[in-house]
Amino acid sequence: MTSPPQVPLRRVLPNIPFVARNPIKYFSRYVKDYGADFLLAIGGSRLTHFTVNADVIQHVLQRNHKNYHKSVIQTRDLARYLGHGLLTNNGEPWLTQRRLIQPGFHRKRLASLVTEMQAVINRCCTGLDQVATSGEATSLHGLTTDLVFRVIARAIFTDGFNDEETKELNEAIDAVQGYVIYPVRMPFLRGPLRWIGQERKHLQITTEVRARIQLRIEDRRAGEPKDDLLQMLLDSRYEDSGEPMEDQQLVDEIMILFAAGHETSANALAWTLWLLDQHPEVREKIRAEIAVVETEGPVGFKSARKLTYLTQVIEESMRMYPPAWITDRVALTDDQAGGYNISSGTSIAVFIHGLHHNPEYWDSPESFRPERMSAAAKKTRHPMCYLPFGAGPRLCIGNHFAMLEMQLILVRLLRDYDFVFPEDAGTVGKKALITLQMDREVKVNLRKR
Ligand code: HEM
Repeated sequence: MTSPPQVPLRRVLPNIPFVARNPIKYFSRYVKDYGADFLLAIGGSRLTHFTVNADVIQHVLQRNHKNYHKSVIQTRDLARYLGHGLLTNNGEPWLTQRRLIQPGFHRKRLASLVTEMQAVINRCCTGLDQVATSGEATSLHGLTTDLVFRVIARAIFTDGFNDEETKELNEAIDAVQGYVIYPVRMPFLRGPLRWIGQERKHLQITTEVRARIQLRIEDRRAGEPKDDLLQMLLDSRYEDSGEPMEDQQLVDEIMILFAAGHETSANALAWTLWLLDQHPEVREKIRAEIAVVETEGPVGFKSARKLTYLTQVIEESMRMYPPAWITDRVALTDDQAGGYNISSGTSIAVFIHGLHHNPEYWDSPESFRPERMSAAAKKTRHPMCYLPFGAGPRLCIGNHFAMLEMQLILVRLLRDYDFVFPEDAGTVGKKALITLQMDREVKVNLRKR
């Protein structure tokens, strides 16, 4: 057993400012030069084992997951703003919450949320009709974020927020998510950000969002039960004590569902629409598939499963542009994986983007080929070389929810609108914040079909 090769400091130090700006480019270069596993002193100091090796990842996330916890970046830095819930806890507190919340996200349970999802999408499309009529270009990211935020807000609170409140909530959560990356990626900014009042400002925003959520919870308790995620959280009881969740925990979990559940899907949708502009033949093939499925009625929970090609396209889009492009773990005790020693305390960076572009598993990884996501093709690959939703016990709890909402949204958008992208859209690049975004705002014109 050996240690992976280490990227020499003479190479790391001059790159520090550039890595912070474009981490994917630099991490990918290191993969090319040093292999699927390498050690990198992030920021010149935090030594981290980077991996795009499916065997190592399988060991860390699945086979020996008990030996690996999330790092303080998630459990302390993110938790300061989002609270202590599913995404940001470790060990026993995480497991207790996961057991409690999991049933609410069971695929079958989603069937009852579809009507609400459809209602939200219909309403948003009325707004998009106006955009199309006006002839004005609209922000692609704004469009997809607005849609999915409304979907998740409605799935949690069916009786919840009106349009204005939803917009304010979306802006508040986006502001916090946009901010937290700075102190995480550039720890030396922590002091200055505090001194200039940015930290206080963003903590204040989260306090206000929490207060709004708390009010909605109280309204619900005083009113009628509903068939939504809030009700599921309110009605669930801990196995051992038979008690419900404390309010503070409830608010934390709702904050986390909002945060984890909208930017990811919004980015996946934006990248997919963009890819379809670059590959019109794929777009037309999807439209033909939708037309066939719709001969049996509007696409719903059951018929969405028949949209196999659309599903492959979404999956291939998330291979090329994984919204959650990296995650981390820390080893609790000495361990070994894929022929490497991993000593206690080692940080592991699971570089999902790098894994999805690793030529060991993907032929021509930079080409967009939805066929590689067919059931037959999947069987020929390593089970852990494609992880848009993570893997093991901490697999994304919202994966079925996300796939369903993306299918329903794309069906409606592709059926009803042509998206006219600007001439230079082909040069859009990646911007890796907490999720993987486009490196500039793309404005599209909508034309009603
Ligand atoms: C395209 C959309 C999405 C992507 C790509 C995505 C990706 C991921 C990934 C990779 C993880 C695992 C992180 C890790 O192991 O460190 C995760 C966890 C999580 N996701 Fe998602 N997600 C998406 C949508 C959603 C939605 C819609 C929700 C909620 C409605 C959600 C809620 C969560 C939660 C609560 C966790 C933490 C689970 C746990 O640790 O037990 N996600 N997601």
